[in-house]
Amino acid sequence: MLLAHHLAQLHAASPVILPSLLLCDFGNLEREIRQLEEAGVKGLHLDVMDGHFVPNFTYGLPIVESLRRLTDLPLDVHLMISNPQQYVQQFVDAGSDLLTIHAEAVDDPCPVLEQIRIAGAASGLAINPPTSLESIDDALPYCDMVLVMSVMPGFGGQSFDEVALEKIRTLRAKLPDDVLLEVDGGVNEQTIAACGAAGAQLLVAGSAIFCQENYATSVAKLTQLASSKS
Ligand code: DX5
Ligand code: ZN
Repeated sequence: MLLAHHLAQLHAASPVILPSLLLCDFGNLEREIRQLEEAGVKGLHLDVMDGHFVPNFTYGLPIVESLRRLTDLPLDVHLMISNPQQYVQQFVDAGSDLLTIHAEAVDDPCPVLEQIRIAGAASGLAINPPTSLESIDDALPYCDMVLVMSVMPGFGGQSFDEVALEKIRTLRAKLPDDVLLEVDGGVNEQTIAACGAAGAQLLVAGSAIFCQENYATSVAKLTQLASSKS
């Protein structure tokens, strides 16, 4: 459960790099988490895929539970699943602090976002590159965070779609300050500065961290570039 002061801490620490664990070594999860903690990360991004909403399958509740036992870092759980409303309570009970659903996965995101808050986590709403901002207008008051996807979800290592930048700028201008903005997909040393400058506060990075030798070096470099406002 992400208490209000944790959310405020993420806000105060922004821009924050959140490693997407998709590419980490799941045979050595504890070692990976310790290395990321030593690298100074402020939270972890977990990609849950169901092979139905997206054409790929990853992991679910047991991994979230294991991570919860291994670390006190905030867990930012990105649900790329159909019918997310059926699983909200279980993912919050498993230890999700921030729980994000996709606008494309539900008829009306409002009750599901409300359900996330009632269950005790912060609520996030994600939109794919082709999804318009207008389509989520009514849901914004129910969001603690909005996740602007810069790739079609499903796989790591795809290239960044610049359509995300304009959406981030527009959302930043109209959302209250305490609603966090996150960008996910193709965020790397070439693309992260533009994301930070557009107003993204939570920057998810998979291959830009896990395909590098040294997590601390890549996290430091990404953080510096995200803050560079160029
Ligand atoms: C995409 C996932 C992302 C992805 C990020 O479906 O939501 O979190 O794994 O990986 P990179 O940074 O390699 O695009
Ligand atoms: Zn993700």
